[in-house]
Amino acid sequence: MRSEHVIGGTAMSVSAKFELNEHQVDMPVKDGTIGPSVVDIAKLYGQTGMFTFDPGFTSTASCESKITYIDGDEGILLHRGYPIEQLAENGDFLETCYLLLYGELPTAAQKADFVHHITRHTMVHEQMMRFFQGFRRDAHPMAVMVASVGALSAFYHDSTDISDPTQRMIASMRMVAKMPTLAAMAYKYSIGQPFVYPQNDLDYTSNFLRMCFAVPCEDYQVNPVLSKALDRIFILHADHEQNASTSTVRLAGSSGANPFACIAAGIACLWGPAHGGANEAALKMLEEIGTVDRIPQFIARAKDKNDPFRLMGFGHRVYKNYDPRAKIMQKTTHDVLKAVGSKDPLLDVAVELERIALTDEYFVERKLYPNIDFYSGITLKAMGFPTSMFTVLFALARTVGWIAQWKEMIEDPGQKIGRPRQLYTGYAKREYVPTNKR
Ligand code: CMC
Repeated sequence: MRSEHVIGGTAMSVSAKFELNEHQVDMPVKDGTIGPSVVDIAKLYGQTGMFTFDPGFTSTASCESKITYIDGDEGILLHRGYPIEQLAENGDFLETCYLLLYGELPTAAQKADFVHHITRHTMVHEQMMRFFQGFRRDAHPMAVMVASVGALSAFYHDSTDISDPTQRMIASMRMVAKMPTLAAMAYKYSIGQPFVYPQNDLDYTSNFLRMCFAVPCEDYQVNPVLSKALDRIFILHADHEQNASTSTVRLAGSSGANPFACIAAGIACLWGPAHGGANEAALKMLEEIGTVDRIPQFIARAKDKNDPFRLMGFGHRVYKNYDPRAKIMQKTTHDVLKAVGSKDPLLDVAVELERIALTDEYFVERKLYPNIDFYSGITLKAMGFPTSMFTVLFALARTVGWIAQWKEMIEDPGQKIGRPRQLYTGYAKREYVPTNKR
């Protein structure tokens, strides 16, 4: 295969030419602003009768997007062009939400208006309380989230017409606003405490902490250090390009499904331990390791091809360098532990495990670095969240990314239903055999 630049006027285009099945194939190559270019193979089947084969999408760009950019080799993450470090250091979560949804950082007036609208959508329909009562108390909160977010489409019929831009925006606002309320309800239900209504004079994250940890019988003061730290954790999780759950949301949305149903699909995908469930799995792993002297045996297990064990919170499909979010998370962990005055022995295990893994040939060769989930579990545990809530908090924060990506897809005039093909390796056509002859 070779590619060549064809320059015409001010526009520059490139094409990939190769021979396949005796066909001379000429496919356009498209350039993004930054990052790898893509070979547009949309006409490949028409021209050659062949599909491409890429299970796990390791070489496939599934869409065009202007929202988030990742350079996995350099460890760079940009939202609408802004580095994650700058957003996490200087901004707050709702500002990041605005940026993801609208494409620009808000002016002071735009921000005030956005915060006002989000705040006025924090309550959920009172009937949702009854819906919650149908669950077992020991249900995993992610199971409750998949169901309750999907159920929003049964409560908010006035924002499910995806062809109406106003309804799309109202649904987006509702989702960002109501996720903390639903997440806190899932937690309260699991511990048998009454639901706490949102309190709109608090900021987004303080309100969430209060809904989780306040009880009706006494006053609850939000610790500003914890609120700031959790807000930063939300920023770090807000969006991450075309990962598994975001691709799920886009695929669900490509059929015209309503946004609440699409986000429920994203939550289901996020739950898995290879994706959002890794923060829960990473903390459980640190607890299982328990003490620093037991680390070598777990490192040995992670390297053993006959053992399915993996170091949870290590490795990433895209980052072949330190996950930039993990660096910020590590600092946040120290801030939170200091604020709550606790010395968690698991932090010593985590720091030592990281040190050993980063110098071990197996991990160095495969470019396996700590990812965001490695330190987030220790941090959330110190804040008082049980492990079962970790992935729920991830889902809460990722909702804005999912919804921004869903909106971008719906608003793309070239959008069509996602429908991959396959390499069929089953039986060729054969004749039916009646039961008495089998
Ligand atoms: N521990 C030990 N070995 C590993 C690990 C790990 N955590 N991750 C990858 N490897 C090895 C793997 O065995 C393979 O080795 P070899 O080439 O000898 O067969 C090599 O590294 C490449 O692994 P892969 O499975 O082909 O890589 P992938 O891009 O398909 O998987 C991953 C990426 C994140 C699923 C994987 O690294 C993993 O399972 N990590 C643990 C779970 C985790 O922390 N997930 C959170 C990801 S970040 C947050 C999010 O996206 O939600």
